[in-house]
Amino acid sequence: MKAKDKWKRGLPYVGNKGQKAEQIIDLLPPGNRLIDAFGGGGSISLTASAASKWNRIVYNDIRSSVVQLLKELITGNSIDLKKYVCVNRQQFLDWRDKRPDSIERTLVLICYSFGNDMNSYLWGRKNEELKLMMTRALFYGDTGTIYDEMFDKYRGEAGIMETYSWFHKWRRDRMGISSRSDLLQNLQNVQRLQYLAELDQLEQLQQLQQLERLEYSSRDYRDLTIQEDDIVYLDPPYYKSGKQYGGFDHDAFWEWLMECPAKNIYISEYTKLPHTEVAFNLGKKHSFITAGKRKDELLLKVVK
Ligand SMILES: C[S@@+](CC[C@H](N)C(=O)[O-])C[C@H]1O[C@@H](n2cnc3c(N)ncnc32)[C@H](O)[C@@H]1O
Repeated sequence: MKAKDKWKRGLPYVGNKGQKAEQIIDLLPPGNRLIDAFGGGGSISLTASAASKWNRIVYNDIRSSVVQLLKELITGNSIDLKKYVCVNRQQFLDWRDKRPDSIERTLVLICYSFGNDMNSYLWGRKNEELKLMMTRALFYGDTGTIYDEMFDKYRGEAGIMETYSWFHKWRRDRMGISSRSDLLQNLQNVQRLQYLAELDQLEQLQQLQQLERLEYSSRDYRDLTIQEDDIVYLDPPYYKSGKQYGGFDHDAFWEWLMECPAKNIYISEYTKLPHTEVAFNLGKKHSFITAGKRKDELLLKVVK
């Protein structure tokens, strides 16, 4: 994916459709309005807003702080992402357990959790020390280690993306290490947010205009007003994986689905469900966490 399109992936949020979003958007029928009822990190809504298949796109998720975070990144400018490049385990746990829900709390929990599940800290204890030290050296130069040399190049004055690229270059030139794997996952996560925050730069203005078609909504999916001619895309907590989202009621979901007035309803799932046909098999999910037990991702169409 080209750098200029990376904003379309949205927030690094558990269950993010990631690379599959473009494919899904290509497969969904055009129409007046697309409803992304379980919008999560926003990859479907954002990719949809860049395509010209719908006049309006409703990005909805019950977690209002996730919706607010995405909205603030795109339309506001109150978040200084550099404040969040270095969050340790204790700070993460404080945010998670002691602070009320907010945009900042959501930002920290998304960027510093393992698998972006907003629950467990990103690194194990052994790794934590090294990764935070490298990040500190890069952005603050105050670790008393050889890594502080990296700070001299920008002295905290460049953006996160530029600084992180410099980190790889410095390691390659100075230490002879060229691997670019998920080394500082924290920075990769914050960088994802940065792509959204930078959409108001001149060369991205066209995308920003396209995003005016996006409507932000944080309701329970059952409270959405849906019309017959809406294209409805549903990516609910997966069947049998309800515990991740505090126990999703799949029976209630099915009842609602059967009553939903829209003619075109599509669902992302791993299992074919009753009253649906497989509209497309998107292949295996790419994720280091699900490695080993990967299933095919299906796009189901509801048939009533
Ligand atoms: C599998 S994730 C969606 C991921 C999304 N497609 C993406 O690309 O990031 C499921 C989402 O459903 C949301 N959700 C759970 N219960 C909901 C409800 N009753 N109404 C609306 N959204 C709900 C969760 O907060 C979660 O973000």
